[in-house]
Amino acid sequence: MGQGVDAAGLARVRVDRPVGGETFQLDGTVLVLRRAMAQDRSAVAAMHGRCTAKSLHRRYLAGVLGDIDRVVAHLVPPPSGVAIGAFTPEGDCVALAHLVPMSDRDAVELAALVQDDWQRYGLGLRLARLVLAVPERAGRAVFLLAEADNWPVLALARRLGYRAAPGVTNGFMDIEIAGATLPAPGPA
Ligand SMILES: CC(C)(COP(=O)(O)OP(=O)(O)OC[C@H]1O[C@@H](n2cnc3c(N)ncnc32)[C@H](O)[C@@H]1OP(=O)(O)O)[C@@H](O)C(=O)NCCC(=O)NCCS
Repeated sequence: MGQGVDAAGLARVRVDRPVGGETFQLDGTVLVLRRAMAQDRSAVAAMHGRCTAKSLHRRYLAGVLGDIDRVVAHLVPPPSGVAIGAFTPEGDCVALAHLVPMSDRDAVELAALVQDDWQRYGLGLRLARLVLAVPERAGRAVFLLAEADNWPVLALARRLGYRAAPGVTNGFMDIEIAGATLPAPGPA
C-alpha cells in the first residue's frame, strides 16, 4: 500500500546519488547503510525470508505478499524514489527503508522493514533519518502509513516528530512527519 508511483514524481526523484560512509554498530557488527540497488536484490529477498510474517504484514499491509522476488525487483531500487539498506560485512541485508512518491497526493511515503532480530536497536530510526535526508525529498511532505495498532511505527514517528496526532481511517494511521518539508533547492 502507498507504494504508488506518479509520473511527476518520476521526473523529480533521482536515485543516482550515493550515500557514502554511513555505518551502524551493534555488538561488534558494523553495518554499512547505503542505497540499495539492483545488485542487492537477492540479499534483500533473503532478508524478507528471515522476517516474521507479522513484520512483513506490517510493512506491506497485506496478508499474503506473493512472489517476494517480484516485490523486491519493484522496490530495489524503486522506479521512482530511494531505498537505503543496512548491510553486514558479509553482504547480508538486515533492514531497508524507502521513500517513494505517493499516488494520491503530492508527497512521499516513508516505509521501513527491519529484520526482527535487529529491531529495537535504533536501526529503523537511523535509516529513516538517512532516507529523509536525501536531496530528492526536498520540498515534499512526508507521510508514514501503518495499521492503527502498529505501536513501533508510532514510536518511530514520534522520534522523527509528527505534525499532529495521527488520524486513523479504516484502521490505518496516516502520519505526517513534522519538519520533513524543507524548501526545494533553488537554482544554482
Ligand atoms: C517499525 C520498525 C521499522 C522500527 O524499527 P526499529 O529498528 O525496531 O526501531 P528503533 O529501534 O529505531 O526504534 C525507534 C523507536 O520505536 C520504538 N520501538 C521500536 N520497536 C518497538 C516496539 N516493538 N514497541 C514499542 N516501541 C518500539 C523504540 O523504542 C524507539 O523509540 P524510543 O527511542 O522513544 O524508545 C520495525 O519495528 C519494523 O520493521 N517493523 C515491521 C515493519 C513495519 O511495521 N514497518 C513500518 C510500516 S512501513
